[in-house]
Amino acid sequence: MKNTAIIGLQWGDEGKGKIVDFLADKFDAIVRFQGGHNAGHTIKVGDKTYKLSLLPSGIIRGKFSVIGSGVVVDPIALFAEIQKIEEAGIKITHQNLAISENCCLILSVHRELDQLLESKKGENKIGTTGRGIGPAYEDRAGRRAIRVCDLLDEKTLNERIENLLFYHNLLRQSLGAKLITSKEIIAELSPIRERILSYSRPAFEISRDLSSKKIMFEGAQGALLDVTYGTYPFVTSSNTMAGQIALGSCLGVSDLHKTIGILKAYTTRVGSGPFPTELTCEIGKFLRIEGNEVGTVTGRDRRCGWFDAVLVRQAIQLSSVKEIALTKVDVLDKLEKIKICVGYKVDGKTYDYLPQSNAMWNKIEPIYEEIEGWKESTAGAKSLDELPKKALKYIKRIEELCGVKAVIISTGPKREETILTN
Ligand code: IMP
Repeated sequence: MKNTAIIGLQWGDEGKGKIVDFLADKFDAIVRFQGGHNAGHTIKVGDKTYKLSLLPSGIIRGKFSVIGSGVVVDPIALFAEIQKIEEAGIKITHQNLAISENCCLILSVHRELDQLLESKKGENKIGTTGRGIGPAYEDRAGRRAIRVCDLLDEKTLNERIENLLFYHNLLRQSLGAKLITSKEIIAELSPIRERILSYSRPAFEISRDLSSKKIMFEGAQGALLDVTYGTYPFVTSSNTMAGQIALGSCLGVSDLHKTIGILKAYTTRVGSGPFPTELTCEIGKFLRIEGNEVGTVTGRDRRCGWFDAVLVRQAIQLSSVKEIALTKVDVLDKLEKIKICVGYKVDGKTYDYLPQSNAMWNKIEPIYEEIEGWKESTAGAKSLDELPKKALKYIKRIEELCGVKAVIISTGPKREETILTN
């Protein structure tokens, strides 16, 4: 397989972790290129379940795993995750994990600020994961972040901390929060400094190592949470679409050869923001329970709704996706009727994309097509022959509406509960 990206095409939680793990054997290296430990990837192997947030999913198969320059790294969260994964029997060494020294760090000030701002926003809150992702990316763009490479030299580190606190303390003062001293930040960084440096590598070196390998790029979150093209401002703070891959991975644009988009057979989102096909009725509750739709990171119930071909088509177009993997088809097994959103109506006008003006969002009326449910179990199916005709019809309709082929269909959380359609 050529260098391939796996990205989510909805609001995250599409099942990327499982698909990355399923395909990982065909690649030499797995690279994370954006986001941080706001991601939650669940991987089931046999009777073992692994939950990853920051480590690339390939680590489970012992693949060379890279935390690329576009990722924001909370070192404390990273080491806690490494410990959990090592306790589960997977060894993480400097041979199988590399962190770009250009990565910006998430510190306690970022976590606190994220939570503080959210708590003050009332109805306007984004519903972030509270892990400091937004403030860390803000500091990167504001040129005051502390990067992994800053840990190399004490004098530089002290200067960077002073610079960071100049801004944060101004903000904290106006929010009525306790001011922070550089001593506190040094105390936070000192115990982890050597360890994080031991995994860190110059981006150039990582790039050179990757150039001889078959690479899988592992997206986090989903296209609709992209800071440029998602449902802004109800988005995460990184670019989640394929365009981000080169910059965030220490590579060039021609190193990405193919993008596979991951789609859930229905739609979910956590946090606030528009969701045209949301079901607040019993069917929404059914999807939540049947699909176990609870956030991996925050434990929040996910909002659930019908498949929205309008939003997905947009994400496919903007990320040059040619193939998709469709997950959680089995969650729909018991439904009498299933709907697919094929367009929107706003003030009597029809749209085949989501208008960006927030003022229009609460006026959207989804246009639905109704499809008969198959009312048979597809759980655990391993070939297309095992799927009922009506389930195949549903999948085909999604392919038609989105203009792409489903190359993988997932019928359960385990590796083997997967159909390759080619
Ligand atoms: P943040 O990324 O923590 O700043 O949160 C911003 C928005 O992205 C919130 O709506 C979160 O619920 C959402 N979000 C962040 N990471 C994920 C994820 O991995 N899956 C689903 N939603 C996410």
